[in-house]
Amino acid sequence: MRRSHGRNLGILGLVLMASAACERPPVDHRTVGWRGIGMQEIENPRSRDADSTALAAIIPVLTPAAVDTEPMAAGTYENVQVLGNLSEIEFNLTMAAITQWVSPEEGCTYCHYVDPETGAVDMASDDVYTKVVSRQMFRMVKEINREWSSHVGDAGVSCYTCHQGQPVPQYYWHFGDEPDGLRHFLDRDDIRVQSTWAIASEGENDVTTNQTWYTYETMIHISNSLGVTCTYCHQSSRWGDWEESPPARTQALRGIRMVRASNLGHMLPLEPEWPAERRGEMGDGPKIECLTCHQERNVPQYGLIDGEGWRALHLPVAVNAPVSESQATPVPAPIPDGTP
Ligand code: HEC
Ligand code: HEC
Ligand code: HEC
Ligand code: HEC
Repeated sequence: MRRSHGRNLGILGLVLMASAACERPPVDHRTVGWRGIGMQEIENPRSRDADSTALAAIIPVLTPAAVDTEPMAAGTYENVQVLGNLSEIEFNLTMAAITQWVSPEEGCTYCHYVDPETGAVDMASDDVYTKVVSRQMFRMVKEINREWSSHVGDAGVSCYTCHQGQPVPQYYWHFGDEPDGLRHFLDRDDIRVQSTWAIASEGENDVTTNQTWYTYETMIHISNSLGVTCTYCHQSSRWGDWEESPPARTQALRGIRMVRASNLGHMLPLEPEWPAERRGEMGDGPKIECLTCHQERNVPQYGLIDGEGWRALHLPVAVNAPVSESQATPVPAPIPDGTP
């Protein structure tokens, strides 16, 4: 009697343990389109949470100092072409931050010239190509954050979004190492291939088979980059229809245009700078794609924001302005109401 009681308890224990093991948090599930047609997104909160905790631990926390202190970087330093409108203190903090975001192991001299004879660092020199590239990266990030907040949100992106503590980000593309469809991220705007006419005799659809192929290559790339399936953005019986597409598709369209603008406006001008080892098999320099930021997540870094507050990533580009006069001019007081 006693023994069987003990055995029953043992079995009960096993059952409880088994059911406790099943009670892991359920997989998240979100309906993104019309009901009943399978437009759902499934996400495992466990892998998401583990990933964001790991990220939070490595993102540098650098509090920007009071930003309105004199002197301004443009007045102090010799060769500042994009960050002149920061105070000297904030400029130096920004240098420390980009070192953490981009070259934490290599340090300042990953971008700054060291005289091989004397070992002295010449911060103003542009002799190291990585410094010239970084300056263009600042221009690109500022433009993304200022002009594409419809895509990246108000907090925007930082160098870390793509670089993740590495001088060379994990994902980028060259001609030849990605499908030809990726030209859509550079200089082509012909993704739409579906006919809008129901009856062939009423309209022409002169899209080539090749173009259709490129469209699908691009779409598969986009899906993989975000770690989603086609129905994240499309009602799959009506691919071209915008009214039945979830809002993510409009955001993706802005993303395509942003990537194109960044490659044309910032990566192409860097073409002459790249050393041979950064070039692809056809000799071209690296270019960005959705994956460069998204890294298989629908929202980069699961929305962890590390660039917020860094004005170097948001203020307009400042050329080496003659500061003394502009700064000597006090900001005019607001005109009181009723003044004629
Ligand atoms: C990832 C590249 C990169 C790293 C790493 C970097 N810098 Fe810079 N640095 C730049 C760029 C780009 C400029 C020019 C900014 C401009 O044109 O507005 C610059 C300019 C400077 C200047 C102004 C020099 C002058 O007189 O014109 C100083 C000082 C400076 N950096 C210090 C540092 C220090 C100190 C570190 C390490 C904590 C560092 N930098 C790390 C890219 C870098
Ligand atoms: C949208 C993604 C993205 C952002 C944001 C970004 N970069 Fe880059 N960066 C790239 C890509 C892509 C490359 C080319 C990779 C290669 O060198 O093959 C690159 C290359 C570089 C290089 C050259 C590395 C080398 O060894 O050739 C430096 C330095 C650099 N970036 C600095 C910065 C700085 C500083 C910022 C922030 C102001 C920044 N990047 C923001 C995508 C980005
Ligand atoms: C992250 C959002 C997103 C995902 C995921 C996505 N698409 Fe698209 N798709 C778009 C956008 C945006 C356009 C319109 C692009 C343009 O007009 O420049 C488009 C256009 C298309 C078109 C052309 C429609 C027309 O008007 O001719 C087809 C076909 C298509 N997608 C198929 C797919 C397939 C198949 C998949 C899955 C492999 C997929 N898409 C995944 C956003 C997405
Ligand atoms: C410069 C970095 C960057 C690049 C490159 C980029 N994105 Fe994004 N994307 C973001 C950020 C940041 C967000 C989150 C914005 C927010 O939280 O409001 C986002 C959000 C999105 C969303 C909405 C996700 C959701 O469910 O809220 C879609 C869809 C998207 N991106 C598609 C794309 C596609 C497609 C491409 C390539 C054509 C692309 N993105 C390239 C930074 C980028």
